Amino acid sequence: MRKNIVAGNWKMNNDLAETQTLVTELKMHINSSNCEVMIAPTFTNLWHAFEALRTSKIEVIAQNMHFADNGAYTGEVSASMLKSVGVKTVILGHSERRAYFNETDEMLAKKVDAALKNNMRVIFCFGEELADRKAKNHENIVGSQIKNGLFHLNSAAFKNIVLAYEPVWAIGTGETASPEQAQDMHAFIRKTLAAKYGDEVANEVSILYGGSVKPGNAKEIFSKPDVDGGLIGGAALKADDFFGIVKAF
Ligand code: PGA
Repeated sequence: MRKNIVAGNWKMNNDLAETQTLVTELKMHINSSNCEVMIAPTFTNLWHAFEALRTSKIEVIAQNMHFADNGAYTGEVSASMLKSVGVKTVILGHSERRAYFNETDEMLAKKVDAALKNNMRVIFCFGEELADRKAKNHENIVGSQIKNGLFHLNSAAFKNIVLAYEPVWAIGTGETASPEQAQDMHAFIRKTLAAKYGDEVANEVSILYGGSVKPGNAKEIFSKPDVDGGLIGGAALKADDFFGIVKAF
């Protein structure tokens, strides 16, 4: 049975004091849930969050990492460094990384390999821009992002892969894909996986939706058969909102 997951991507928000406050609130609110719950604070606050949530159900994950183990890569953080502060899951390929930091499919494939080599789980993100959707090219774009980033893997590797479909036009815009648009794309993603790896792999991979998910729309989106949870940005920064989304399961 594939897992339901709600993951909060804090992006470049919350300093140490703000992290302490939010983590404390989340810990109080979320002590049982029908899904896996994760938060991704900034690198500087991972250790604090990990320590503070040690006894809770909330997993602390990272927003990004470099593909090399160590070396002359100023400003970067490696898989082994993340593991040394308790992080076992990393988000890779977020559209903001692709757009603002020029992360290519090729670079992301290397990051995926580095994470898996270090026995980490990957939340692999992809999604089309508005122009692609308007041109009805969204399935091609998403299909090629998945193929280029992941299709060099063997089927066993997918035990440690979670997918996150995040249409760029719905991120931080208040514009959400309709539950039907999300379901259609998630079904296409599962079909793409099945064509390469077979139904068993495709049916076991969790596919999250991301893009303006809120307490008010989470339940309907998560009720779709191929939507296994959400990657949450803005609404993950308020304990009540995040809790409201977790409760949608
Ligand atoms: P949002 O961000 O929920 O603020 O739209 C989602 C994301 O970028 O993961």
